[in-house]
Amino acid sequence: MSIKACDVKESEIANQVIKYLKMYCKKGAIAYVHSFGCQLNVSDGEKIKGILSSLGFKFTDDYKESDLILLNTCAVRESAEDTVYGTLGNMKKYKKENPDVIIALCGCMASEPKTIEKIKNHYPFVDILFGTSALSQLPKLLLEHYEGNKLAYDTKEYNEEFGADYQIRESNFKASVPIMFGCNNFCTYCIVPYVRGRERSRSADVIVHEVEELVAKGYKEIMLLGQNVNSYGNDLKDGMTFAQLLRRLNDIDGDFWIRFMSSHPKDAGTDLLDAIIECDKVGKHLHLPVQCGSNSVLKRMNRHYTAEKYLETVNYLRERSEGFALSSDIMVGFPNETEEEFCDTLKLVEEVKFDNIFTFIYSKRSGTVAAEMEDVTTDSEKRHRMERLLKLQREVATENYKRFIGKTVRVLVEGESKQGEGWLFGKSSAYTIVEFKGYKSLIGTFVNVKITDARNWAVSGELV
Ligand code: 5AD
Ligand code: SF4
Repeated sequence: MSIKACDVKESEIANQVIKYLKMYCKKGAIAYVHSFGCQLNVSDGEKIKGILSSLGFKFTDDYKESDLILLNTCAVRESAEDTVYGTLGNMKKYKKENPDVIIALCGCMASEPKTIEKIKNHYPFVDILFGTSALSQLPKLLLEHYEGNKLAYDTKEYNEEFGADYQIRESNFKASVPIMFGCNNFCTYCIVPYVRGRERSRSADVIVHEVEELVAKGYKEIMLLGQNVNSYGNDLKDGMTFAQLLRRLNDIDGDFWIRFMSSHPKDAGTDLLDAIIECDKVGKHLHLPVQCGSNSVLKRMNRHYTAEKYLETVNYLRERSEGFALSSDIMVGFPNETEEEFCDTLKLVEEVKFDNIFTFIYSKRSGTVAAEMEDVTTDSEKRHRMERLLKLQREVATENYKRFIGKTVRVLVEGESKQGEGWLFGKSSAYTIVEFKGYKSLIGTFVNVKITDARNWAVSGELV
């Protein structure tokens, strides 16, 4: 039996679980939920909190205060998995001293078949495990656990719509809204299609309704999420596209910004680029992961575009929207990447002038096509290439951010800055970090800031 989010409170299973919780939760039903990885995972974590809350749980940031520990994991790189296993290792002692505490594992790592075996063999103190599309099965798994199942798990794919009904959001002015799940692209290095399944788009009407409600509640930034948002709608029968969705959301009344991630360069057609430029509520920034600047490596990665095509997209945006900001993901050390191929990446970074890049050293993921590719490049060479890339990006960004000096930009204030007493930070439409002095009461509102200074990762200025 599957429980939908909206059924959690009323369901028979939930009632039985609640009885067990009263018997076994020594701390009064306190949960520690920690999400690793990307924003989609964080959004899933918020939904899981919603389910737990409807079962009566409160939350803590200290696992040693909890009755239930839930690690919502990431599998994108080996280091992410190592972090989870390290965290589990640290928790072993707490579980030994508090045997009634439940330890649960979910997220991308939990969806990998190899994980179940590893958990059974090396981490037998884990009680519950569930995959990325089985969030709604948590009450059922809690019940199975209390009824004696040593490792209660469910890694099946459920096709039900698991919306925001119960989502407990971290912020009261920034909200993420998943618009699709899964990925069909099978980039040769990437584990995501194996752990999050095929693309499933949510209906546009449901998304629009959800955003309308968030805006009515006062949310100022809506971040649309998906592994590849610009293939949104390909699986829908009504012909809806991501560009059309952006335009519909832009028509919602209210003072708010729309952002989205991530996009795939192969699907960034002019209909989408025009929508970004023309919709006043859509941030003038595009996160467009290029991965590398070498056409031969892009081919080995199965990316379906060339560096030249990528530059065309960049130029299209820059010609039509002055100062348009781009950010990217860049991977160094893909199997057998040569010095020449790496230099093509440096060349592209210099040419595009990204405001920001997220850089990764290639990490072998078993089950992917690239895991079988020969790789003679040494780890130290890969690290050296990474240092060269970061150095170049620092130089590029310092120059880049100077374009804002003297300009007044609108900023959504996010919090206190580490700059010092009285400093705040926020982000502009171009997703630039902006620091300035102001009162804390401005957090969660829009302000105008005149930019006076630029560094390689942020700008600063004065409140207008
Ligand atoms: N190794 C290193 N980085 C990876 N990414 C995805 N898979 C891997 C991997 N196997 C990076 C890509 C992607 C970002 C989310 O993570 O750059 O865009
Ligand atoms: Fe991690 Fe990728 Fe899964 Fe997000 S989708 S949680 S980044 S593996």
